[in-house]
Amino acid sequence: MLSIITLGDPLLAKTSSLVPDFDDGIRRLAAQMFEAMGTKGVGLAAVQVGAAVRLFITKAPRDVPRVFINPDILVTSLEEEPLEEGCLSVPGLYTEVVRPASVRVQAWNEKGRPFTLTAEGILARVIQHELDHLNGVLFIDRLDAKKRKRLLVSYDEKMRF
Ligand code: NI
Repeated sequence: MLSIITLGDPLLAKTSSLVPDFDDGIRRLAAQMFEAMGTKGVGLAAVQVGAAVRLFITKAPRDVPRVFINPDILVTSLEEEPLEEGCLSVPGLYTEVVRPASVRVQAWNEKGRPFTLTAEGILARVIQHELDHLNGVLFIDRLDAKKRKRLLVSYDEKMRF
């Protein structure tokens, strides 16, 4: 089973590179990521299991499992909304983040087929959170500096014990 890296690992700040081929290795990686995520999360980026390539998976409530390879957000709504986010790489820390309420994304699936998808609600949120991972950005980086610092102090205290 692949293990998930956590805050402090420098790989989380790295920009992931494009997936060059839709081969068996990529399909295996996606399958192993679903296994690593289990029922603990609603999304996971490849970099979180140590593979800094532009691939993430989602399994939002009441949605099918999805694989996004080399994704791009084409359009974001002007409307923004606060939603609570967490991250398997920052265990135990949950906080509201404000982001666009809906997005239109283009990507390739694990079979190498291109698709576009308009998402709202939790799926839109997961897509934006995971795409951030591919650019080395964590959800806590989206907070204002003061709130981020306060949360990180309590996170550090919790992780120490
Ligand atoms: Ni995350």
